[in-house]
Amino acid sequence: MYHLIEETVEAIRHRIGDFEPEFGIILGTGLGKLVNEIEVNHQLMYANIPNFPISTVEFHTGKLIFGTLNGRKVVAMQGRLHYYEGYSMQEITFPVRIMKVLGIKKLFVSNAAGSLNPDIKKGDIGIIDDHINLLPDNPLRGSNDEDYGPRFPDMSAPYDKKMQEQAMEIARRNGVRAHRVVYVSTAGPNLETRAEYRYMRLIGGDIVGMSTVPEVIVANHMGLPVFAISVITDEGFHENLQPVSLEEIVRVANEVEPKMTDILKELIAMQ
Ligand code: HPA
Repeated sequence: MYHLIEETVEAIRHRIGDFEPEFGIILGTGLGKLVNEIEVNHQLMYANIPNFPISTVEFHTGKLIFGTLNGRKVVAMQGRLHYYEGYSMQEITFPVRIMKVLGIKKLFVSNAAGSLNPDIKKGDIGIIDDHINLLPDNPLRGSNDEDYGPRFPDMSAPYDKKMQEQAMEIARRNGVRAHRVVYVSTAGPNLETRAEYRYMRLIGGDIVGMSTVPEVIVANHMGLPVFAISVITDEGFHENLQPVSLEEIVRVANEVEPKMTDILKELIAMQ
């Protein structure tokens, strides 16, 4: 992997010159508009970056965007990879390793998620404090490269506490309903059965989604502080479960997106 990472970083540096991103951003399904607020210096199609995984159609149009957001230098991934699309865990997390080697100091992640907790409603914001990994695989499985991180990384505080507090404060000021949450990751692509939603609530989850955890594991492996924010798009309340569709999830994500974008923008400017 060392060789692949070096090759990719060298190719990217060749294109972006001396641009040094401070922060990395991964935007979730229906949550890509933050990218429009970046003053772009360089855009690289994933398809033109050596070793970037691009086997799905959606990802084929994905881009790595280098620019300035609220005065801070960032690199943003427009188009993220999911396990349900068939990518390996190593493929999903490869861009996180690349961004780290390019010099980012913190990683910001967003996603759409369903609520398991009756106090957390559709349209609310989740600030992730912890997670439960129910994915059937792990990006760190296989030989470990000690140059990148330890064999058995500590996960006692996988999401940066200070940034969580700052984000809750921004939400309070903006009058946005936000909650500190435990995120449960599932492989998907089907949504949960009633019994599965009940199980996820019982084991301690507040919200559930199909992304984020692989990237967060690798960020922790590399010692990169993480902030993750969720837009709550549906309510998986097992006592009274209503059918959920992806169209509805994307519709709500788009509707609630400005609340999330405002928090992320302010939070990044504060770092
Ligand atoms: N379950 C899993 N993933 C999701 C959901 C959900 O209810 N909502 C958005 N992503």
